[in-house]
Amino acid sequence: MRLLGKTDKESVNQLLRSCNLMTDSIDFDHHQILGEFENDDLIAMAVLEIYESDALLRSVAVKSSLKNKGRGTELVKEVEDHARSLNVDHVYLLTETAKGFFQKLNYTEINRSLAPISVRQTEQFSKLCPESAICMYKQLVK
Ligand SMILES: CC(C)(COP(=O)(O)OP(=O)(O)OC[C@H]1O[C@@H](n2cnc3c(N)ncnc32)[C@H](O)[C@@H]1OP(=O)(O)O)[C@@H](O)C(=O)NCCC(=O)NCCS
Repeated sequence: MRLLGKTDKESVNQLLRSCNLMTDSIDFDHHQILGEFENDDLIAMAVLEIYESDALLRSVAVKSSLKNKGRGTELVKEVEDHARSLNVDHVYLLTETAKGFFQKLNYTEINRSLAPISVRQTEQFSKLCPESAICMYKQLVK
C-alpha cells in the first residue's frame, strides 16, 4: 500500500465510480489517500481526513471482483496503522452500506452529534452523506 497523489487521480476516480462512491471532494493536497495496486491496477483504497488526533475515514473501496476475500479488512487495518503513525487516536466514518463490515473491525455506531466539530464540518458530514448514513467510531489502541 502506498500514498496516492494527483497522478493517481484517474485510477482513484475509476475505482470509486465502480463502487458507487463519490469522486468529488477528495483533496489530493490535504487528504491522506492510500491505495493498493496490482499490475498497475488500483484494487483497494481509502481516504483519511486528519484533524489533529481525530480522523474521518472515507472512500473505502475494494475492486468489485476482489470483494469478500479479506482485502477490505487488510486495507482498513493498514490505514489504521498509518493513522496511528500520524498520532490519530479517534477514527470516525459515515456509511450507508457497510455497517456490518466496520462492526467486524470494532467500529461502533454513535450519534453523529458525538463526532468532533472538525469532523462534522467536513463536506462528507455536512453536505455529501445523507442523514440516513450511520456514524461509526473507533478508538485506536496504541
Ligand atoms: C465494504 C468493502 C470495502 C468491504 O471490502 P471486502 O474486501 O469485500 O471486505 P472483507 O472481505 O474484508 O470482509 C470482511 C467481512 O465483512 C463482511 N462484509 C463485507 N462487505 C460488507 C458490507 N457491505 N456489509 C456488511 N458486511 C460486509 C464480509 O462478508 C466479511 O465477513 P466474514 O468475516 O464473516 O466473512 C467493499 O465491499 C466495498 O468496496 N464496497 C463498496 C464501497 C463501500 O460501500 N465502502 C464503504 C463505505 S465508505
